[in-house]
Amino acid sequence: MDKSISVTWRSPANIALIKYWGKHDNQLPNNPSLSMTLNHSITETTVEINPAKEPENPAIHFTFEDQPNLVFESRIKNFIHSLKEFFTFLSSNDISIKSQNNFPHSSGISSSASFMSSLALCLCSVERKLSDSPMNDYDFYKKASFIARLGSGSATRSVYGGFVSWGLTNLIHDSSDEYATPIMDNIHKVFTDYCDSVLIVSSNQKKLLSSEGHRLMETNPYNKTKYNEAGRNFGVLLDYLKKGDENGFGRIVENEAMALHGMIFMSQPWHILMEPNTIIILDKVRKFREINGLPICFTLDAGPNVHILYSRKIKNKIKTFIEIELNPFCENHKWIDDCVGNGPVELKPLE
Ligand code: PMV
Repeated sequence: MDKSISVTWRSPANIALIKYWGKHDNQLPNNPSLSMTLNHSITETTVEINPAKEPENPAIHFTFEDQPNLVFESRIKNFIHSLKEFFTFLSSNDISIKSQNNFPHSSGISSSASFMSSLALCLCSVERKLSDSPMNDYDFYKKASFIARLGSGSATRSVYGGFVSWGLTNLIHDSSDEYATPIMDNIHKVFTDYCDSVLIVSSNQKKLLSSEGHRLMETNPYNKTKYNEAGRNFGVLLDYLKKGDENGFGRIVENEAMALHGMIFMSQPWHILMEPNTIIILDKVRKFREINGLPICFTLDAGPNVHILYSRKIKNKIKTFIEIELNPFCENHKWIDDCVGNGPVELKPLE
């Protein structure tokens, strides 16, 4: 290759409904997980490759939001080095990676998922451009999902839009621990444009890195029970998603969120990732549901922010509830109005 190639992908965050928490070997999950890909919370990444100036030592440059970022850079350099066996072009080219988010990173919205999936898609696109016999779309996305997983487990699911599963299970055709599987064909229409209002309780960086959280599961005495319960919840949720049962959906989704934080409370050392305002919001959501009889539920990532999930047909009522009752407990009154999205897109340069 003697010329420069540049590709850009825009990739969304996802929110897990059945949580991946606990892993083995090289980022393989201890239970199947299931997520909803978001629409507006996105990372845009551009990868440019050029023939290496020093062929024995190709350079890797990384900027985040136009600034050098040493913490991310060293992680990304290690990641790129580890991918040489999957992308031969990485051994003979300099690579420059530019990335930006439209939401706060490391704050409980899965920025590692949107970033790692966008990076994996860029690398697969470069490979496709260089290949004499380019991969078909099915293999392209499967490889991108596999590569994204090596960077961050949850990123494996962000390669696809809609509802996505990850992890070997006899309930999903073509499921694997190594890559995710889109399951939108099996979803009732009430969920296909479901809303997710993300209440930012705190945009501070995470108190517990997820790599440490996964590691703590190894010695958590409740780990086996948790993996079994997640497997069972996966099957039940899948059924509710097919039938369009919103109340059942809410029961499982909230149970999974609380079980994740329960595991975090009970690890040694213990951690509390909720903030006082997180708890106030959870309580208010439950009371609102009981009083109004509307199917609204919450989930949490490994952080203090609350995702409120509900169907589009009750959006106006929920927006009013958020504005009046929940917004005072958000940092700077900030919340993100998101929903199920169609998945990543490649941005073509203007001709
Ligand atoms: O992908 P990681 O290693 O950052 O782990 C993410 C774990 C959770 O976000 C808490 C759950 C999930 O399935 O996304």
